[in-house]
Amino acid sequence: MTPMSEQYDAIGARYVSWKETPIPTYTEVPTVRKLLSGLIEGRSVLDLACGTGYYSRLFKQWGAACVVGVDVSETMIAAARDAESKNPLGIEYRVADAADLPVLGSFDLATATYLLHYADRADTMRGMCRSIAANLKPDGVLLALLPEPDYVMGKGETTQYRFTYRLVASDKDWSLVHADVHTDPPFSVEYRHWKRAVYEEALRSAGFIDLRWHRMEVSPEGLAKFGEAYWRDLLVNPMSTTLTARLSP
Ligand SMILES: C[S@@+](CC[C@H](N)C(=O)[O-])C[C@H]1O[C@@H](n2cnc3c(N)ncnc32)[C@H](O)[C@@H]1O
Repeated sequence: MTPMSEQYDAIGARYVSWKETPIPTYTEVPTVRKLLSGLIEGRSVLDLACGTGYYSRLFKQWGAACVVGVDVSETMIAAARDAESKNPLGIEYRVADAADLPVLGSFDLATATYLLHYADRADTMRGMCRSIAANLKPDGVLLALLPEPDYVMGKGETTQYRFTYRLVASDKDWSLVHADVHTDPPFSVEYRHWKRAVYEEALRSAGFIDLRWHRMEVSPEGLAKFGEAYWRDLLVNPMSTTLTARLSP
């Protein structure tokens, strides 16, 4: 498997095209927005695995006082900085590995939208969670967006959502998936669906409490635009989920 940083160095700004498809637009973003309501306004945010800065910019627009975006891929950070220079929002971007992150500050909120599952081992995930904890205030909140641990491979269609996938390998704690994303331009990506208990153990071992899993929702706009039948496969067998936790005071 390609190392994760190299994977996104190759994908680069092509990843942005995925963000314009129905799943991010009508399920991920509204779900994250709802979960952060009351938690983001006027707060400091550390956006881990920020990629091209898609969520970093939304967080600023949703009222965050300051946002620092971190990603291991120089190419993704270059795209994020390019967007910042074209439309300055005051976001700072850094290249760093979340598994070995220095203390950049004491943030109110940390976000990890599609980060933790890129850990290649459970121990790496524990390192990521320790790094996040070291950068949060006591009682600070973490929101993570993750591949759904209970996703059933092969159940339902995915083509209407602009991707197809195949199982590459599996282990007692994970399934490794290769996904082809049918956007213009297209790209491919590999990632793991880790078991729920692995995330929970990694977070608890780093001092997180109040772990809560939240189902992805489809926004009223998404339902109105595509109709209920379009979303059925996703709602019956969601491919992503959201996890929130709080650092013990
Ligand atoms: C699927 S993209 C998500 C980007 C962004 N959070 C979003 O939702 O649009 C995953 C990102 O995780 C980054 N990443 C993977 N492993 C990482 C690590 N160990 N530390 C920091 N970033 C990492 C990749 O470089 C990539 O930009």
